[in-house]
Amino acid sequence: MRILSGIQPSGKLHIGNYLGMIHQMLNYKDKGDLFCFIANMHSLTSIFDNKKMKENTDDAIIDLLALGIDPEKSLLWVQSDVPEVTELTWYLSTVTPMGLLERCHSYKDKIAKNIPANTGLFTYPVLMAADILLYGANIVPVGRDQKQHVEVTRDIAIKFNSIYGDVFTIPEPEIKEEIAVVPGIDGQKMSKSYNNTIEIFASDKIIKKRIMSILTDSASVDQPKDPEKNNIFILYKLFASEQETTLMAEKFRNGGYGYGDAKKALYEVLIDYFSVQRLRRAEIEKNTDYVRETRMKGAQKARTIASEILSKVRKAVGVAVTS
Ligand code: ADP
Ligand code: TRP
Repeated sequence: MRILSGIQPSGKLHIGNYLGMIHQMLNYKDKGDLFCFIANMHSLTSIFDNKKMKENTDDAIIDLLALGIDPEKSLLWVQSDVPEVTELTWYLSTVTPMGLLERCHSYKDKIAKNIPANTGLFTYPVLMAADILLYGANIVPVGRDQKQHVEVTRDIAIKFNSIYGDVFTIPEPEIKEEIAVVPGIDGQKMSKSYNNTIEIFASDKIIKKRIMSILTDSASVDQPKDPEKNNIFILYKLFASEQETTLMAEKFRNGGYGYGDAKKALYEVLIDYFSVQRLRRAEIEKNTDYVRETRMKGAQKARTIASEILSKVRKAVGVAVTS
């Protein structure tokens, strides 16, 4: 079984990314082959600063290594290092109806926010389909915001197979309902684009500052509170043990427990949860040769797999030199 997911290097990794995608991938560690990549070509639709693009990409490799993606046991690569993906994108685009892309929420949301619509933004889901189909992925763990894109991938693959024969594996999205949308410090979906994240690898001081600025209502310390209605508890529950969670819920319900205390508890639980990964990241960051080598080896392995599927596609559509 192949489990594949990607992340755009469009900013610093946050706890929503971790729970929505990375943690889910790691849960599959012993159940199949992990394919994890950095979608830097997707990020080109929104980042036009080459220095930032390069830095973010290097950072993303280090982040994924630190969080436990093991390049010896799984495939870790950078999307643009496998040019086969753009060739496949073209073949897929020739069977993709305009309407399928016009219906995509993430494209419509960007237009609604007056983000200039380049064609890359519009065809983003076709490149994403190529990412998934080029490696024969069975399962794609993502947060809920990406569900539609995986469904588009399925539609494209089914259409292609119906025209050209059984070439592609049809992938399934994997979304954990309890963590499908991790809220940000303002209560909206946590996202790099909304400046509402709690970063995993920021300094202790910054993490504390972000947690302290989580929006709450104005209930006084004495008042009993419904834990399920505040974001501090919702985030705490995702990282604390069952016992710790029950205890915090009781304290909120009983009254006499303020949001400030809960924020401190959330800070402690997060720092504790990521302590090993944070130390590991500091070590990996120093070893630039290792990071470069990991990227090169990943690209080589990924290209080998990609070219096998791509040659089947070339034959199927009738562009291969030999049949
Ligand atoms: P962002 O919105 O911060 O730019 P990405 O689009 O790079 O995040 O998403 C990378 C992965 O993390 C995707 O699988 C996405 O669904 C998941 N993800 C991002 N934000 C959240 C969130 N708030 N809750 C759950 N999953 C998330
Ligand atoms: N679009 C995804 C996101 O923004 C990133 C991504 C690109 C991806 N290609 C993918 C995720 C393939 C899963 C599979 O989060």
